[in-house]
Amino acid sequence: MLPTKILIIPGSLRTGSLNIRLAAVCAEALLRADAEVTRISLGDYPLQIYDGDLEAKSGVPKQAVNLARMIAAHHGVLIVTPEYNSSPPPLLKNALDWVTRVEEAHEMRGHPLRGRAIALASASDGRFGGARCLAQLRLMLSGCGAMVIPQQLSLSFASDAYDDRERLKHTADRAALDAMVTQLVRLAQNETR
Ligand SMILES: Cc1cc2nc3c(=O)[nH]c(=O)nc-3n(C[C@H](O)[C@H](O)[C@H](O)COP(=O)(O)O)c2cc1C
Repeated sequence: MLPTKILIIPGSLRTGSLNIRLAAVCAEALLRADAEVTRISLGDYPLQIYDGDLEAKSGVPKQAVNLARMIAAHHGVLIVTPEYNSSPPPLLKNALDWVTRVEEAHEMRGHPLRGRAIALASASDGRFGGARCLAQLRLMLSGCGAMVIPQQLSLSFASDAYDDRERLKHTADRAALDAMVTQLVRLAQNETR
């Protein structure tokens, strides 16, 4: 059987990001589940804030098309994102908005989030671990036709969530990670597109 390809998209670019750190731990777990993992940085896909006039004048920017193609080249996607004021951060929201504008003109059957298996994770030093952001993201992506899996990981008090070998130290966090990875790989294997 071909390996299941999973793309990890962190929603932060920040040096020392809690979410990039969690993305690395998620990547390890996906590799253990025999997935083939690609991790990207949205910093490699710089995009202006979405503006309909800009799109009408110049079309969808090349970076958005590239990101859409990267998503389309994977069976599933894991988004690991900070929460800003109970919402997804603009970096991530804007990138996803642009991706939904990439359509048939670029040799795709609709935008690449449609039918895609997607998992959501977040890390925060707060008590809720970014769970409110994930609720909004789930709604948004489901509205786009993505297959968002039920299992998710909200890592609360994230700076203190690891042991000295960079593993999640709390049983509940490890269980949530494993359940999320299992579900994502299973759904991605049965690619719904
Ligand atoms: C504009 C802004 C709003 C924030 N709002 C929240 C919030 O609603 N909930 C939360 O848990 N953390 C919030 N934070 C704190 C972030 O969780 C924290 O900065 C985190 O480290 C960002 O993720 P990163 O480390 O991956 O960059 C906010 C941070 C910023 C800059």
